[in-house]
Amino acid sequence: MAHVLGIDIGGTGIKAAPVDTASGELTAERQKLPTPHPATPDAVVEVVAKLVQAFDWTGQAGITFPGVVVNGVILTAANLDHAWIGVDAVKAFEDSIKLAVTVLNDADAAGVAEMRFGAGKGVGGTVLLLTFGTGIGSALFTDGVLVPNTEFGHIEVRGKDAERRASELAREEHDLSWGSWAGRVEEYLTHVDALLSPGLIIVGGGVSRKADKFLPRLTGLRAKVVPASLQNDAGIVGAAMAMDSAGSRQATIHV
Ligand code: BGC
Repeated sequence: MAHVLGIDIGGTGIKAAPVDTASGELTAERQKLPTPHPATPDAVVEVVAKLVQAFDWTGQAGITFPGVVVNGVILTAANLDHAWIGVDAVKAFEDSIKLAVTVLNDADAAGVAEMRFGAGKGVGGTVLLLTFGTGIGSALFTDGVLVPNTEFGHIEVRGKDAERRASELAREEHDLSWGSWAGRVEEYLTHVDALLSPGLIIVGGGVSRKADKFLPRLTGLRAKVVPASLQNDAGIVGAAMAMDSAGSRQATIHV
């Protein structure tokens, strides 16, 4: 049984808690600090270091990042400062906090946790987790194996990046009613379904807490759509699990 500190870096907040990776339980109450603006590498690394200190952590840590992460190197950063692009994040965090870390995409981490402990537990075939928050993140599984770094939040709908129209942030920024936002989400999910034909779509991210406000409105979809069950802790839990199973650089994650 391993205990790993899970750290989830988002567009608005950075959350952390120690996780028992065998049960998926948080072993202490999670702590949250605001994401710095601008969210440059130095500024974000500093906040992560504060969270590590807050738990007096000396073990391993798993860290999510809201962008494409290949072998620990950041390739995109749509909702953080673009200075992240090209940064070896594993090295940047390890140099600062002096602990062994792994870094993976935030939605992939949430997906890994939901597949092992949540709404996707035991589900085979093609499963897609989508997180609706500052952006739209995606995690694609085939028979429990993660296909890392899918970016289905950036497919084009009506000539626009889907996350600009249908993320939770877009709902807030455009002051959309639940009904009109649900219409946008359904249109987006219809596109995604046409591309991937998943058997199950799991809806996660901050908005999954309010699933009753919009999931019942998604009536025209073929795939089964369910809310994430770990909700906002999924990223923290999945980050810790990735460190436990993959080590510091990317490896195949089989849930
Ligand atoms: C990023 C993804 C990320 C998602 C959710 C998107 O803008 O491109 O990598 O998973 O936001 O944070």
